[in-house]
Formats: sequence, structure tokens, C-alpha cells
Amino acid sequence: MRNKSDIKRIAVMTSGGDSPGMNAAIRAVVRTSVYYELEVFGIYRGYAGLIEDDFIEMNARSVSKIINQGGTILKTSRSQEFRTVEGRKNAFDHLKKRNIDALVVIGGDGSFAGADKLHKEHGIPVIGIPGTIDNDLAGTDYTLGYDTATNTVIESIDKIRDTANSHNRLFFIEVMGRDAGFIALRTGLATGAFSILLPEEDISIDDLISLLKRNKATHKTSSIIVVAEGDANGGAYEVAKRIKEKYNYLETKVTVLGHVQRGGSPSAFDRVMASRMGVKAIEGLLAGYDQHMVGFVSDTIQYSKLSNAITGSHPINEELLRISKILSI
Ligand code: F6P
Repeated sequence: MRNKSDIKRIAVMTSGGDSPGMNAAIRAVVRTSVYYELEVFGIYRGYAGLIEDDFIEMNARSVSKIINQGGTILKTSRSQEFRTVEGRKNAFDHLKKRNIDALVVIGGDGSFAGADKLHKEHGIPVIGIPGTIDNDLAGTDYTLGYDTATNTVIESIDKIRDTANSHNRLFFIEVMGRDAGFIALRTGLATGAFSILLPEEDISIDDLISLLKRNKATHKTSSIIVVAEGDANGGAYEVAKRIKEKYNYLETKVTVLGHVQRGGSPSAFDRVMASRMGVKAIEGLLAGYDQHMVGFVSDTIQYSKLSNAITGSHPINEELLRISKILSI
């Protein structure tokens, strides 16, 4: 397909925490570039690789058999140097040296903030693909990896439920989400958790104890409490400790699921969304969207300003929270 835009050469990178579906997005970006007769380069290790001139030329075959793989074949990093004006100047010089006309960044809000600065300081068109398991970006209903990560969490909690029931135990399970409770809310609802602690909602230790007393009165013999790592009470170990100090009801255990949530083969949902976003990222660049993010909104791919993804908020679905409370009695 002939490309009538000024953009002839693009580069793609993954940045920040990896998430399942990043490889499917790289594949879609590379193959769509080839389809539109663009030359395409991969940058290893995100902005760190850009600063260190770590590029690889890619073609349709470079991305064979990766649609099903977790992680990112381009690797990723969180670069401190790119936060500086000099770091971004070095990075831009390496793009310029290779005559790269536009950059595709697959990552979260921190990565997009970097891309936005690069665009403002050096004029290079940039487009973002939202990739983070946290789902905490404005301008998209879902980010790449969130669906897979929540399926991984659900599988783990289901297993913990078996042993919790067998021993009549109270389990506090900490899931990822530094600033947002999307993973906790979805997985808590899907696993029938008795309570879900999120950064977006204040539940005090005393509130939780009242709920536990209600549990005891209705003869619940085991319970799961899902705690988002960013919850204001301070993580699963802290919540468990503070509850135990005041109310010793069931034997208590804590599980922190950690980085297991970030790995694994992407779900069907993430693979399809990544493929759609990758195609639209390149088509958007060719159509002049030079400082935007592609987002998945009501089953369509839409463009929004990068600045919206960086500073805007993605509220949790209060209805899910309400439902989870009704069903946890
Ligand atoms: O941003 C995604 C995320 O997985 C967060 O949920 C978590 O707090 C963070 O990354 C962990 O980052 P790292 O792997 O650098 O420790």
C-alpha cells in the first residue's frame, strides 16, 4: 500500500513495566509499517536504549511467532537519564542520525510523559500505545496486559481459596496497582472476595473489623480480602497486622502475588486489542496524529492527546464496587 505521508521511517520501543500484549503490539506496528512501505527500527530497552543508540532494523519476519509471547522482545526499562533535557537531546540525536521521522512508544503514563517532552523539545511526531497491567490511563477503557494480568490473579486466588476453605483461614492477597485499584477491583469481584481495598476508596481498619464481625455472625468460615498495593492502609502485610492487633477472628495468612502478574501469554482480548492498536498507531501517524495515544473506547480505537493520558484520570467503575459489596454478604 503506497504511503503518501512525509513519514518514511519509524522506530518502535517498549518502555516502563512490561505487560502481556506488548509483543503483539510490536508485531502489529512492524507489519503495518511494512504494509505501508515504511522502514522500521526497533529500539532496545526503551529510552535507555535510545540514549545508548541500541537499535535494530526490523521487517515482517522479525516479529514472527511473538503474538502469543509475554514480556517484550525489545526489552524495557525505566530511564532516569531520559528525564533530563540532555538525555532527551542525546536520544533525539540518535533518531536524527538514522533519519527516523516518528516514534511509537508502547508503555504507561511515565513513558508518555517522556514522549511528549521529546516531541515538544525536538518536534518529532510520537504516538503512544497504552501498555501497562495497571489499566490506569485516561483515554482508553483498557490498557494492554490488564486483561491477562487479571486472569492470572484470578487463577491464583481461586487456588488460594481452596486452601483458605480447607483451613478456615482469612487471606489478605496483595495485587499490583501502585496508584490505581483496577486489578484489585476486577479480581476481587471475579473471585468473590469479601472485601477489596483500593487507593480510590477509604476503608478503615475499623470498618474492616465491623465487616469481619458480620462475617462471623453469618458463619463464614474463610474469607479473601484483596488489597491493591497502593491502598492507603499500607499493603496486605500491614493491613493483616493491624487487624490482628484489634480482632483475632480467623487464622490469618498473607500472599503478595507480585511479578507473576506481569508475565504469561496474553489473553485473546489483549492480543486482539494489541493488533488493532498497532495498526491504528501507524495509520494515525500517517494521518498526522503526531502527539497522540491510541485508546480502546467502547470497542473502537480512538485517538486522544498524549497530555490527556499523562494528566487525565481514569476513574474506577463505581458500579463494580457497589456490586462487589452487595455480593459479599
Ligand atoms: O506499572 C506497572 C507495575 O506493575 C505496577 O503495578 C507496580 O507497582 C510496578 O509496575 C512495579 O514495577 P517494577 O517491576 O519496576 O518493580
